[in-house]
Amino acid sequence: MSSLLTELNKGIQTSSAEETIAIGEQLAKELPADASLALYGDLGVGKTTLVKGIAKGLGITKNITSPTFNLFSIYQGEKQLVHLDAYRLSQEQSIENLMIEDFLRSPYLCVIEWPDNVPELIDKNTLKLELRIESKTTQHCIKRI
Ligand SMILES: Nc1ncnc2c1ncn2[C@@H]1O[C@H](COP(=O)(O)OP(=O)(O)OP(=O)(O)O)[C@@H](O)[C@H]1O
Ligand SMILES: [Mg+2]
Repeated sequence: MSSLLTELNKGIQTSSAEETIAIGEQLAKELPADASLALYGDLGVGKTTLVKGIAKGLGITKNITSPTFNLFSIYQGEKQLVHLDAYRLSQEQSIENLMIEDFLRSPYLCVIEWPDNVPELIDKNTLKLELRIESKTTQHCIKRI
């Protein structure tokens, strides 16, 4: 196991968005091809910030924003980055209608915000990270769950 994953098992504290971006960059380089990553955590804990770092690690220069009207965005870098933000996915709107699988081109890295809204896309191979803000220190914590 890489040292980053070992650290993530314990939990990594970050004090700035830049530090979270640096972790994302390293993570992008260490994950195998065709991996999927689920980012759990409340509003504003740094999920999209981590995705910005992942994009940077894949050599993507385009600015990553949360997909607002579309549920997912695709960026081409060293791997194809598929960024799915399931926050607005309603119960009636089935993931099957998204056709996300049809868009995946190997090698890809699929990153999912609000994974609880798309249980169909999460399996035992999905790397699951929980982000939260420590109430005492206000540091952001990223931990593998
Ligand atoms: N240590 C840190 N790690 C990540 N972001 C931080 C940190 N410290 C401050 N921030 C700031 O917190 C905000 C996190 O916002 P971000 O959009 O990444 O959260 P999110 O989890 O994607 O929220 P949402 O659920 O609304 O999509 C950013 O404005 C970022 O600059
Ligand atoms: Mg977000």
